[in-house]
Amino acid sequence: MIVAPSLLSANFAHLARDIDRLNEAGCQMLHLDIMDGHFVPNISFGSSIVKTLRPLTKMVFDVHLMISDPLKYLTDFVHAGADYITFHYEAVDNPFRIIKAIKAFGIKAGISIKPNTPVSVLEPFLPFLDLVLVMSVEPGFGGQTFMMGAVPKIKQLKALKDQHNYNYLIQVDGGINNQTVLLVKEAGCDIVVAGTYVFSHPNIKEALANLE
Ligand code: DX5
Ligand code: ZN
Repeated sequence: MIVAPSLLSANFAHLARDIDRLNEAGCQMLHLDIMDGHFVPNISFGSSIVKTLRPLTKMVFDVHLMISDPLKYLTDFVHAGADYITFHYEAVDNPFRIIKAIKAFGIKAGISIKPNTPVSVLEPFLPFLDLVLVMSVEPGFGGQTFMMGAVPKIKQLKALKDQHNYNYLIQVDGGINNQTVLLVKEAGCDIVVAGTYVFSHPNIKEALANLE
C-alpha cells in the first residue's frame, strides 16, 4: 500500500521542513491538491509552488487537479515537475483529449470521480489510464469524514482491472485514517491519500507507518 500525504494539510509556513520530514520518513509519493475556487469552493496553490518544491525531494509528484479547464494549465504542471497528473471527469467534455495530452508529455495520466459519479462513466477510458482516483469525500477540503460509498466503487474498479488486465493504479482520497485504510485496502486500493491523519499526527513517520 503506497501512502501519498496530501500537502494541503501541511504547514504552509514551513513547507520545506514538512517535505524534509516526509523525506526522512521514506515517503515515496506526495499528493498535491490544486484547487481553483471554481471547480471546487476553495483555492489552494498553483504550479509555482509545485515548481519550488520539486528540487527538495525525490518523491513522486502526484498532482490532483480540482480545477475547471485542466488542459489550459497542463503545461504549467508538467514544467513544474509533475509525475502524475489527475483531472476530474466532471470538469471536462472530452476526457480522451486530456488523457492523450498528458501522455504526450510522457507523464502518467489519472482521472478522478467525485462521490456521486459512478464508475461506469470511466469504462471507455480505463484501458488508457495509469491511475484512477476515487474521491471518498466531496473535493475541496481536508479533514472531512470518509464516505463509505467509495468502497463498492473501489471493488468495481478492481474487478474491471482484473477482468480486462488493465494497468491503472487505484487511489482513494479523503478521510483516510488507520481505520478507513483497512476498508479500502481490502476493497483493492493500491494508493491512499492522507492529509489530516499524517500532518496532525505528532510523529509523521509513525503516522505513515501506521497506514502502511
Ligand atoms: C480534498 C483533497 C484531498 C484532501 C485529503 O479535495 O483532494 O486530497 O486533502 O485530506 P484528508 O486526508 O484530511 O481528508
Ligand atoms: Zn486530493
